[in-house]
Amino acid sequence: MTEIQSITARRVWDSRGRPTVEADVKLANGVLGRAIAPAGASRGTREAIERRDGGTRLGGRDVQGALTSVRDRIAPALAGMEANDQAAVDAAILALDPSPLKDTLGGNATVAVSLAVLHAAAADAGKPLWRHVADEFGRTPSLPLPEIQIFGGGAHAGRRVDIQDFMVMVPGASSFDEVLEVTSEIYFAAGEIMAAKGRVAGVADEGGWWPVFDSNEEALETLVAAIEKAGEKPGERVVISLDIAASEFGGEGRYRLALEDREMDSAGQIEMLGRWLDAYPIASIEDPLAEDDPEGMAEFTRRFGDRVQIIGDDYLVTNAVLVREAAEQGACNAVLIKVNQAGTVSESIETFRAADGLGWGSVVSARSGETEDVSISHLATGLGGGQLKVGSFSRSERMVKWNECLRIQDELGEAAFVGGAPLARTWWGARRKAGV
Ligand code: PGA
Ligand code: ZN
Repeated sequence: MTEIQSITARRVWDSRGRPTVEADVKLANGVLGRAIAPAGASRGTREAIERRDGGTRLGGRDVQGALTSVRDRIAPALAGMEANDQAAVDAAILALDPSPLKDTLGGNATVAVSLAVLHAAAADAGKPLWRHVADEFGRTPSLPLPEIQIFGGGAHAGRRVDIQDFMVMVPGASSFDEVLEVTSEIYFAAGEIMAAKGRVAGVADEGGWWPVFDSNEEALETLVAAIEKAGEKPGERVVISLDIAASEFGGEGRYRLALEDREMDSAGQIEMLGRWLDAYPIASIEDPLAEDDPEGMAEFTRRFGDRVQIIGDDYLVTNAVLVREAAEQGACNAVLIKVNQAGTVSESIETFRAADGLGWGSVVSARSGETEDVSISHLATGLGGGQLKVGSFSRSERMVKWNECLRIQDELGEAAFVGGAPLARTWWGARRKAGV
């Protein structure tokens, strides 16, 4: 009996104290599935719309309209459907709102319900969510390689620096547990370096240290110093990953670094990033060019795609069609998977499959506005072979996702950690292969 009996929605609050949508899906046999919609701050223009009420209350951010979408439109349409037929459920949601950006129902309404249905089906099958995902979608589960933020920036830190995420990855670790231990050492080493300079001023939205720097590159230098202070040789067990989030400071062919009072064209942006790739052990870079700069993205990929992972986030918005288009244009070699950018589980998995079929990497990702919801830890594990980006190494809306992976590790075993495989085609992988 996996029949959906009822769906309810309530307003809950995210890590920034903003309202968001929680959905409860109850099956006829009493089994419950529950999920919460996350919220982005540096959003792509082509991602599913977060339906907000507007007006003056709660800064216009209330979600009563999205709750009404769930109660009055989605719940009646899904009642009586089989929860374990995710494709049919998501198709029914799409039929209610065929607009490409889901602006009628709201992507925050659709994603909460779609994920809650997935949870209900897993609970009904008596399986942890990661196992259900692996079984349903024919994947071999593995614990993902994390990208963990050390300094926040961009829209997550009052634009104190232009670049959004300064992260580390530990592809040389032998277990997920070891990744977290090494990252914790680097996180606190970075905090000590900032404190010694009199520069600790709390944390940014995703828990990374607040970026008090005189230039964007100073953040990179400090990150390298933190890796060394933690006893690691940068580029060996640990590498750097950046989310440039270039659409936040670039567009219409111009890129303006406010911190450095510097303006460049697309070629200048590519030159600057190329210098960083030469100077620092960066193995992965996200949205290096703005979402309206496909030529720049293709040129960047042509020049550096055989050295680094190039992830499209705002550029691809978890959309399978955009992934295939980008591949034809030679832009990017990996995709960020944010379920709320697509709006449903099925569309997210379609995007994952499109990327996988192209031999691309994929990174399941949180948003800057998060909650206690741990669905993405399970999705990244269940889909297998991937990476997981959750933000930093503080604040419980972040730690709950890392800690959930440790619980999964107990079930799956340490050997199920994917390790450095996602970076095999970067300079790091080449070095590893050569035994350097
Ligand atoms: P967002 O940013 O959740 O604020 O949109 C996350 C990202 O750019 O990866
Ligand atoms: Zn991003």
